[in-house]
Amino acid sequence: MRKVRAGRPGDIERRCMETAAIILAAGAGTRMKSKKPKVVHEVLGRPLVRWAVEAAKKAGADRVVTVVGHGREQVAPLVEGDTEVVVQTQQRGTADAVLAAKDALAGFDGAVVVLSGDSPLIRPDTIREMCALRAEHNAAVVVLTMELANPFGYGRIVRDGAGEVARIVEQKDASPEEAAITECNSGFYCFDAAALFEALAQVDANNAQGEFYLTDVLAIAREAGRAVLAYKTDDAEQCLGVNSRGQLAEATRVMQRRINEAHMAAGVTLWDPATAYIGPEVTIAADVEVLPNVILMGRPAIGEDSLIGPNTRLTDTCVGVGCTVDETVAVSARLDDGASCGPRAYLRPGAHLCEGSKAGTHVEIKKSTVGKGSKVPHLSYIGDATIGEGVNIGAGTITCNYDGANKHATVIEDGVFVGSDTMLVAPVTIGEGALVGAGSTITKNVSPGALALGRARQSEIAGWVAAHPIEKKK
Ligand code: UD1
Ligand code: CA
Repeated sequence: MRKVRAGRPGDIERRCMETAAIILAAGAGTRMKSKKPKVVHEVLGRPLVRWAVEAAKKAGADRVVTVVGHGREQVAPLVEGDTEVVVQTQQRGTADAVLAAKDALAGFDGAVVVLSGDSPLIRPDTIREMCALRAEHNAAVVVLTMELANPFGYGRIVRDGAGEVARIVEQKDASPEEAAITECNSGFYCFDAAALFEALAQVDANNAQGEFYLTDVLAIAREAGRAVLAYKTDDAEQCLGVNSRGQLAEATRVMQRRINEAHMAAGVTLWDPATAYIGPEVTIAADVEVLPNVILMGRPAIGEDSLIGPNTRLTDTCVGVGCTVDETVAVSARLDDGASCGPRAYLRPGAHLCEGSKAGTHVEIKKSTVGKGSKVPHLSYIGDATIGEGVNIGAGTITCNYDGANKHATVIEDGVFVGSDTMLVAPVTIGEGALVGAGSTITKNVSPGALALGRARQSEIAGWVAAHPIEKKK
């Protein structure tokens, strides 16, 4: 139900608020040559269909209906949580796809925005502007159009003698004169709900592809005497549809540039924006420096003055203030202020470097806490361990946490010094302030303050070498 009667001040804004979005995501996308449906493919870690959903929500859609079909067992889980999902059983064209959402929108009489699930670059502001224009003229439809030097493949906007939009003709149905038109259909629309479903009932499949075209709604609505408008954008880039791997890469480049420009405007230094791949949900504080070849995905947050990269991939990893993350791969890890890792560290889920601590070169840490100021500087594996404060772990130390069946914990209390090349066979606890001699294999708990040695005693045979000369072969 429309909450506002026509004619009152503020109508446009309020009517714009009553917006449902339909996202068309039932097509196969055969040109991707993939076993995955097209809209599942990702741009900067986010599936194409999710980009469309987020754009609809940012534009202020009150409801979002996603039309799934081809490969729906892969598509539906991506949108089930926050959109209504409807199924188009056979992919008979874009008009048929919109009809699949008819029941879900029964009784809804606001504006219906139609978005393609394969077009991730649409700007929410553009959607809002289309809706405002539609409301202002009480039009049946506003279609977003763009001028393209090479319009091949797109539907063309056919205007009448007065310059009004008459209809849209698809590439495969276009006469040579129509094919020469450079104003193209972006595939984004804002409809009046009633006019849309009324016209859809009249769409047929008498065309070159034998499909039900959503684009036919424009001519039908116009014949019914309703206003049909085009909103032409100068920013054609936002209309890019992904039909191939090449276009997927193009969309990634555009989105990468947009995201990186926003971070730079907010005070982040990117040495080489072309090699910084930053996902849409990453937050980076001012004065962070991102070196070349960095991939930040998921929901990481990077604190002020940190140095990230080069050659680093962080997924869902939070980095505090003033950290150094050098040539590191980290997944679901956490670095508190002043911590550092790398070069060549691997921080796996549950790795937590507390304030001022360090995971150095060729160090792998999993599900472990490294306490304040503690250091694991070289060539170590730390898994299922709790390391206290001020601990030093010598080069080549390994927590032997796995017995082939179960994982066991290692506890290293404050102030412990572990000599190099030590095997800590878990479960085991090294008491506060203890010292473990280099080359030890520790299988029993070590008492606080003790020296633990777990290695073969060294023996010596005097003069042995001279008594056993090596005969050199001639
Ligand atoms: C469509 C438009 C064309 C426009 C272009 C812009 C029509 C008839 N043509 O062509 O005018 O220039 O977009 O990119 O609308 N889909 C379904 N079910 C179907 C068919 C398609 O859900 O039965 C979905 C697809 O998954 C896709 C979207 O609708 O997300 C567009 O379909 P697609 O086949 O890519 O249309 P185009 O040929 O690009
Ligand atoms: Ca398309």
